[in-house]
Amino acid sequence: MRNNKVSANPKKVAGERAAELVDDGMIVGLGTGSTAYYAIQKLGGRVREGLLIRGIPTSEQSRIQAEREGIPLIDFAETIRIDLTIDGADEIDPAFNLIKGGGGALFREKLVATASHREIIVADESKLKDRLGGFPLPVEVVPFGWQYVRLNLEALGCRARLRVSENGAFVTDNGNHILDCAFGAIDDPADLERRIGAICGVVESGLFVGLAHQVVIGKADGTLEERSRPQCGVDVRRKT
Ligand code: A5P
Repeated sequence: MRNNKVSANPKKVAGERAAELVDDGMIVGLGTGSTAYYAIQKLGGRVREGLLIRGIPTSEQSRIQAEREGIPLIDFAETIRIDLTIDGADEIDPAFNLIKGGGGALFREKLVATASHREIIVADESKLKDRLGGFPLPVEVVPFGWQYVRLNLEALGCRARLRVSENGAFVTDNGNHILDCAFGAIDDPADLERRIGAICGVVESGLFVGLAHQVVIGKADGTLEERSRPQCGVDVRRKT
């Protein structure tokens, strides 16, 4: 018997859908990772068809892709308004709290997210979790004294590992290192974010609390699930 089921790439489905929510004149935060990749690719296609936007990339990787796609960019220093950002996530909880930074771009992603009027998270279903913490929490730290910073992070109840690449310690776009912190289930993301942020030497953590307004989940059968955080008052389905 022939199997007629079509298998889609869920990340592509989600990324491309979010790119359809961008309108003329917007300043758009361009996220990082394999799902945001498809949003940037789709936006590139729309720009070539006449869409007028300016992008703010959240990483060098995304900047390179956006330039290749012909998306006009604007320096963050030139604006204080980002209309909409499309970004991925490593974990998403029911309250839309996130773990991000698997790709090492968490600091710029978070700065752009805090400046964004709407933050749309694109992901496949595997990123939806009842509680955050299965994915080790990335924390960006300054290289000077990172071992001491690690001790202070571990005092909060995690096992922290220095992220490495083939050339030694991983270096972020900001010249810093990443400590991947295995906390296990995180009961209170906001409290943990505060306590990590209070450690000297920490640049930023990959906990995104209250920053995401909408999530677009792509599925392997090609369908989508779109959810808005209720208190945001923005329902993505009404926009289409
Ligand atoms: C980049 O630093 C990350 O925050 C990514 O957005 C996150 O890791 C999701 O990436 P994927 O879409 O590749 O899973």
